[in-house]
Amino acid sequence: MKIFLDTADIEQIEALLDTGMIDGVTTNPSLIAKSGGDIKQTIAKICDLVDGPVSAEVTATDIDTMMAEAEVLSAIAPQVAVKVPLTKEGLIVCRRLSRRDIMVNVTLCFSAGQALLAAKAGASFISPFVGRLDDLGADGMNLIADICTIYDHYDFDTQILVASARNPQHVVDAALLGADVITLPPAIIDQLYKHPLTDKGLAAFLEDWKKTGQSIL
Ligand code: G3P
Repeated sequence: MKIFLDTADIEQIEALLDTGMIDGVTTNPSLIAKSGGDIKQTIAKICDLVDGPVSAEVTATDIDTMMAEAEVLSAIAPQVAVKVPLTKEGLIVCRRLSRRDIMVNVTLCFSAGQALLAAKAGASFISPFVGRLDDLGADGMNLIADICTIYDHYDFDTQILVASARNPQHVVDAALLGADVITLPPAIIDQLYKHPLTDKGLAAFLEDWKKTGQSIL
């Protein structure tokens, strides 16, 4: 399963590059606003840093303006995946762009029916928001399971990109279901490294080592 970073914060991206875990980046208008940077400069800088797909979202809702914005965003670098909302207009834009081999990430997906339409529109990625469904008392991972089943039935090429992840268990569940990608805020990547038994075990090893009086160096 690929891991994308869900942030537009350049420092956070730079800090995690050395881990070798980052296969791409996703942004959205809220994350760009939070970063405080200009969208075009920010996306260009992220593309310089990261090898994989970088999602940059349109901010219009009508077809013509979304297409115009998509032209600008996709011209930044070939690795840009234009993010469009899961609306009828968004999927028309998706179809037009995918026919020109421009990657499209269809976002704000909350149902399997929506995911089916995105695949038929030629999306490279579908982004179901698991955390926001969980927040409402639903089980976001059931949606991922349904989309996996449907896409398998028809051999769709659209990659399932689990979004709105809230905790390390979402990562494990997504991988168990065979999702293609999960996008994570940097804090969740840090949490994934952690286990109390790792900390406890390491402390015991170091304590025992100290008693030997030895040094490897
Ligand atoms: O980028 C889309 C998604 O990951 C947003 O997550 O936490 O705002 O629901 P969240």
